[in-house]
Amino acid sequence: MIIGVPKEIKDNESRVGITPAGVKALSEAGHKVLVETQAGAFSGFPDDEYQNAGAEIVGDAGYVWGKSEMVVKVKEPIEPEYPYFREDLILFTYLHLAPLPDLTSKLLESKVIGIAYETVRDRQGTLPLLTPMSEVAGRMSVQVGASYLERERGGRGILLGGVPGVPPAHVCILGGGVVGTNAARIALGFGAKTTLIDVNLNRLRELDDIFNGRLYTLASNSYNIENATREADLVIGGVLIPGATAPRIVTRSMVSKMKKGAVIVDVAIDQGGCIETAKPTSHSNPSYTVDGVVHYCVTNMPGAVPHTSTLALTNSTFPYVLRIANRGVREALKQDAGFAEGLNTWHGKLIYRGVADSQQRPWTAAAEVL
Ligand SMILES: NC(=O)c1ccc[n+]([C@@H]2O[C@H](COP(=O)([O-])OP(=O)(O)OC[C@H]3O[C@@H](n4cnc5c(N)ncnc54)[C@H](O)[C@@H]3O)[C@@H](O)[C@H]2O)c1
Repeated sequence: MIIGVPKEIKDNESRVGITPAGVKALSEAGHKVLVETQAGAFSGFPDDEYQNAGAEIVGDAGYVWGKSEMVVKVKEPIEPEYPYFREDLILFTYLHLAPLPDLTSKLLESKVIGIAYETVRDRQGTLPLLTPMSEVAGRMSVQVGASYLERERGGRGILLGGVPGVPPAHVCILGGGVVGTNAARIALGFGAKTTLIDVNLNRLRELDDIFNGRLYTLASNSYNIENATREADLVIGGVLIPGATAPRIVTRSMVSKMKKGAVIVDVAIDQGGCIETAKPTSHSNPSYTVDGVVHYCVTNMPGAVPHTSTLALTNSTFPYVLRIANRGVREALKQDAGFAEGLNTWHGKLIYRGVADSQQRPWTAAAEVL
């Protein structure tokens, strides 16, 4: 198979879909890899490393897309990439289609086989290709929030851990999944008073155990959310309903009751955000203020730490890339029901139900088309 690795063009996105280690494994298995020049440069992988691993370095993105049977990326394609779509092209990347009806239409019209990292499941039913980036974003959310709490960046001028004689900041984390758990680990490490809210009581029990009672846990309802956000210096949004638009559990009125100079980091913004006042931002213009509350809503947070993120991501995605290349896309999907859940678009049909429900479109089950 011919596999293409274009350079990411989304604002400040510095990760890359395949590392030189992946190129070597694909070459050894008899496949050809086209890598756009400088695709891995910001992740710490220069062209000559790819070349030494067996890749052909190509100067033109259009050539990479046009010649490849499968394109492996990181972020969902943006408008300048839409003209490269064509029938039978396999696109393996994050797609996050639920809040993106235009991209969904373009993929359907051009009959691309779109497999989304974020909806692939493993045998335990978890989301193995979302997990590594959620680990990065969860850990990073507290680091970013701590920095925005500084006076110069618009925050209340409060140190997360306080100092002896001065109480620590309050951190409120919404969602106790991968983002929430990693955020809690770092917030507690900083010494902040940390509260985590989830709708799943069994998850709260596990977290109570994992953090040995140091984490305050609360059941998710609007009464608890309103009280916890009003007290918080830093609110972190990590709520997810897989494949669907995030529920906006913090309303505009709750935000208006928060402390002036408090900070919101809505990590769930890539699925629409779980805070009503959140709107997507980018690394070049990451924050804005509503009612005196600083909002940071960057949709591709791990892009800021591309070396760590590329390695973490490709550790998880690469085995699937190799399977598609070796077995063909239909067989690879048919042999693994969890992998087949990654299928979002197939020859003009919308396959993933969560996306269809969010956009009120018809859908077709993967089993019917494979
Ligand atoms: N912005 C970024 O750069 C970035 C990076 C990585 C992940 N993300 C996003 O972060 C979000 C969270 O990802 P994750 O891996 O932690 O997901 P996850 O599935 O591991 O966790 C989601 C949690 O939300 C909880 N939840 C669902 N409904 C809730 C409600 N009404 N109230 C409270 N909790 C509720 C679930 O019980 C679950 O524990 C996703 O939208 C993901 O796409 C964003």
